[in-house]
Amino acid sequence: MGLFLQVFTVLVITVSLQGWLPRGCLEEERIALLHLKDSLNYPNGTSLPSWRIAHANCCDWEHITCNSSTDWYLNASLFLPFQQLNGVYLYGNRIAGWVENKGGYELSRLSNLEILDFESNRFDNSILSFVKEFSSLKALYLGHNRLEGIIDLKESLSSLEALSLGGNNINKLVASRGPSNLRTLWLQNITTYKSSFQLLQSLRAFPNLTTLHLEENDFRGRILDDKLQNLSSLENLYLDQCSLDEHSLQSLGALPSLKNLSLYALSSTVLSEGFLHLRNLKYLDLSYNALNNSIFQTIGLCDLNHLQVLYIDDNDLSGFLPPWLANLTSLQLLDLSSNHLKIPMSMSPLYNLSKLKSFYGSGNEIYAEEDHHSMSPKFQLESLYLSSRGQSVGAFPKFLYHQVNLQSLDLTNIQIKGEFPNWLIENNTYLQELHLENCSLSGPFLLPKNSHVNLSFLSISMNHFQGQIPSEIEARLPGLEVLFMSDNGFNGSIPFSLGNISSLQAFDLSNNNLQGQIPGWIGNMSSLEFLNLSGNNFSGRLPPRFSSSSNLRYIFLSRNKLQGPIAMAFYDSFEIFALDLSHNNLTGTIPEWIGRLSNLRFLLLSYNNLEGEIPIQLSRLDHLTLIDLSHNHLSGNILFWMISTHPFPQQYNSYGYESSSHQSFEFTTKNVSLSYRGSIIQYLTGIDFSCNNFTGEIPPEIGNLNKIKALNLSHNSLTGPIPPTFSNLKEIESLDLSYNKLDGEIPPRLPELFSLEVFSVAHNNLSGKTPARVAQFATFDERCYKDNPFLCGEPLPKICGAAMPPSPTPTSTNNEDNSGFMDMEVFYVTFWVVYIMVLLVIGAVLYINPYWRRAWFHFIEVSINNCYYFLVDNLSILYKFGFS
Ligand SMILES: *[C@@H]1O[C@H](CO)[C@@H](O)[C@H](O)[C@H]1NC(C)=O
Ligand SMILES: *[C@@H]1O[C@H](CO)[C@@H](O)[C@H](O)[C@H]1NC(C)=O
Ligand SMILES: *[C@@H]1O[C@H](CO)[C@@H](O)[C@H](O)[C@H]1NC(C)=O
Ligand SMILES: *[C@@H]1O[C@H](CO)[C@@H](O)[C@H](O)[C@H]1NC(C)=O
Ligand SMILES: *[C@@H]1O[C@H](CO)[C@@H](O)[C@H](O)[C@H]1NC(C)=O
Ligand SMILES: *[C@@H]1O[C@H](CO)[C@@H](O)[C@H](O)[C@H]1NC(C)=O
Ligand SMILES: *[C@@H]1O[C@H](CO)[C@@H](O)[C@H](O)[C@H]1NC(C)=O
Ligand SMILES: *[C@@H]1O[C@H](CO)[C@@H](O)[C@H](O)[C@H]1NC(C)=O
Ligand SMILES: *[C@@H]1O[C@H](CO)[C@@H](O)[C@H](O)[C@H]1NC(C)=O
Ligand SMILES: *[C@@H]1O[C@H](CO)[C@@H](O)[C@H](O)[C@H]1NC(C)=O
Repeated sequence: MGLFLQVFTVLVITVSLQGWLPRGCLEEERIALLHLKDSLNYPNGTSLPSWRIAHANCCDWEHITCNSSTDWYLNASLFLPFQQLNGVYLYGNRIAGWVENKGGYELSRLSNLEILDFESNRFDNSILSFVKEFSSLKALYLGHNRLEGIIDLKESLSSLEALSLGGNNINKLVASRGPSNLRTLWLQNITTYKSSFQLLQSLRAFPNLTTLHLEENDFRGRILDDKLQNLSSLENLYLDQCSLDEHSLQSLGALPSLKNLSLYALSSTVLSEGFLHLRNLKYLDLSYNALNNSIFQTIGLCDLNHLQVLYIDDNDLSGFLPPWLANLTSLQLLDLSSNHLKIPMSMSPLYNLSKLKSFYGSGNEIYAEEDHHSMSPKFQLESLYLSSRGQSVGAFPKFLYHQVNLQSLDLTNIQIKGEFPNWLIENNTYLQELHLENCSLSGPFLLPKNSHVNLSFLSISMNHFQGQIPSEIEARLPGLEVLFMSDNGFNGSIPFSLGNISSLQAFDLSNNNLQGQIPGWIGNMSSLEFLNLSGNNFSGRLPPRFSSSSNLRYIFLSRNKLQGPIAMAFYDSFEIFALDLSHNNLTGTIPEWIGRLSNLRFLLLSYNNLEGEIPIQLSRLDHLTLIDLSHNHLSGNILFWMISTHPFPQQYNSYGYESSSHQSFEFTTKNVSLSYRGSIIQYLTGIDFSCNNFTGEIPPEIGNLNKIKALNLSHNSLTGPIPPTFSNLKEIESLDLSYNKLDGEIPPRLPELFSLEVFSVAHNNLSGKTPARVAQFATFDERCYKDNPFLCGEPLPKICGAAMPPSPTPTSTNNEDNSGFMDMEVFYVTFWVVYIMVLLVIGAVLYINPYWRRAWFHFIEVSINNCYYFLVDNLSILYKFGFS
């Protein structure tokens, strides 16, 4: 029995209560509670008999109380049977409190309870009187709850060593005889500027603290160190984002045992010299400040022999690396990235740092320096990040040839010139990540001689590599997860062996000279999520049908020579998020099964030969944010579209390839076709149906797409009016309805579209007045309205006179049409009678009088010439508009 209890002393519950309904019990909640019961299962499954799957409403289960609000309450006696209980973890459960029995305090019988994790629930201050009963408690996590005001820890929790109160709204701690053993205290983001002084004073009650988190509290202008002075055991102090200034930390040196100091995001650039006499400091984080070189004196003057970790990234440092860096001989990690420093590619100033394992220097100027032949580094690096802004360094630095422990190497944007450094992979058995983007490297892609399982990330995009992709790639680099080879000169076809790299998640071969058919086995690579083969010469049809085990989410195949129908290619690929098949020669219709791809966010099928109507299923994809069907032969009506207002999903991929520049596509907005890359695409929302054969009216619901940025329906045969709902397109930047057969008036409220930058309704049958020339509409010139015979008003030359015929309204009835037709008939008859009579009279006169005859023929000749030049001029203009 004792053994049995030991096994279950730690009780872990993470009950998800999203969607918790009042007086009800969702199945997942019931299951979560049953798991909880299983993990307790004491004694021998005889406890909690009412917790049964068949008993559907878990609100009626013993120990469970449901509140009619979304919060819920646990009966404290639930834990009473488990007297050996050591830890309870209930973070993130929307628990608002405990129901206690009248008899009270049986919980104090849980004499072994040491850990209570109630982070991210909805407890208020009353939870404190509940937890006070646990005399054995060593760690109490109450961060991100609804605690507020004064927190009283008097006369209780005498064993407490760690206390988390961050993310509440607290201004004072009272603990005169409180938890005297407290070592670690989290007080991040708990107080306002008004109460931050009080908060500092409460710290006196905890003289034995070793770790203190005060991040994200507003201490503007407060002097911190006289409040912290008595914390003579303090080793770790976190003051990130506290709006500290030069007065705040005048004599921090009086904290003799301080080892870790984090001062991320100060408000002032000045750090007083006195404060860093911290001989025992091992860890110093000064990142994301505006520190300039004077910090070098401050750090340099003191003898930080013990410093192991130094972050000064994202500051304002400039010039060469200071020589005293070489004196920080305990340094293991040095982060100087994103400053304005000049760092030699040889790394020679750091050769002395024998313990250095990680150096981050990206985002500075990396320069070539003559290698010191006599010197070699004492360090063996594991991580080296030196990506720069395109400086040229000639060749790989010599010290790199001596490194054998590298795990991550980033030399992006350093113009190195040379061949692919396969020796780096050979020398460094543990190499996992190699970034060589845009390094001016050339020659063939040289593989290491032996198999290297550890290499998982390889990017050699944007170089001048040539030749075929070696077929031994699977044998030599079998652990690849990400392979980026875009923008090179690779030719040939994709080697078959690549399909055997079962770990491959992302694969970018765009903008090379590859050819052949897109191999079908790509659809069987079950880890593959990201595929970019755009901008090659792939021909033939799309692969028949991707396997249902395919996890492809990003498919970019544009600018190839693919032909044939879309057929069933992605029928089972429910995960697809972005699909770009534009600029190919695909034919046939848009398949109906596209409606199955319910995660689809970006769909680009432009510049193909697709025909037929848009399947209604497509318009029901409610996550779509961008759809481009332009330049096809599609016909039929434009359907009512949803453009998603769902927030862009957060991606959790360790390589972040979704937000990297490897995700790119072309889209035309504001009359310019641009390639959009990386995370910017999440701000792109638009519909482009231009240059097709769509007919019918524009559905008024399109006006409800108030998040849309670009709408292009030009060059179709759309009829009817511009829906007045268009004045709701509040975020629209580009609206093109030109070259259709739209009639009626332009909705007068259109000038309310204040984001509009490009607008055209040219070449339609619109009538009435142009919109008022206010706001954005004051910038649109005649070209935006031209070729609408009945449209008048500025900026058109045609003035809207009082005598303007009333514009034909789109709601005109058949009767009115008929009566109009009758009038025209009368008109034609009269016209022809008069015309023939005039001809006869002119003929007679010319026959009789020879002088008038000569004058007449001269007039005809001049007129023919004028007509010719008029046509030539105007045709060239038409040509420009129609085809450029
Ligand atoms: C639990 O089961 C074990 C064997 O399965 C038995 O020895 C023990 O007596 C049982 N305990 C109780 C409380 O039923
Ligand atoms: C139920 O929740 C409401 C609001 O959160 C609270 O006022 C009430 O006391 C709760 N009921 C119980 C039984 O705790
Ligand atoms: C909590 O559970 C105990 C034991 O099952 C029961 O006696 C008590 O009435 C319950 N308290 C509440 C408020 O439901
Ligand atoms: C600090 O800790 C020591 C033991 O480590 C203890 O004796 C002393 O009472 C503590 N100080 C206070 C003020 O509680
Ligand atoms: C700090 O707390 C405030 C409200 O108490 C919250 O709005 C803010 O997001 C928090 N900051 C962080 C970084 O969590
Ligand atoms: C530090 O502690 C001493 C006594 O140990 C006390 O006199 C002094 O006021 C304390 N200083 C602060 C700032 O609390
Ligand atoms: C660095 O150390 C050397 C000897 O180890 C010493 O001469 C020099 O003064 C030190 N430099 C600084 C800036 O402390
Ligand atoms: C690393 O590779 C280069 C080139 O093959 C070789 O000259 C050098 O000796 C290797 N370095 C080590 C430490 O093995
Ligand atoms: C596109 O395909 C059609 C027939 O399928 C063919 O006639 C045409 O030449 C192709 N166009 C291009 C640019 O390949
Ligand atoms: C539109 O349809 C007509 C006939 O219905 C056809 O002649 C014309 O080529 C089509 N235009 C486009 C751009 O497909």
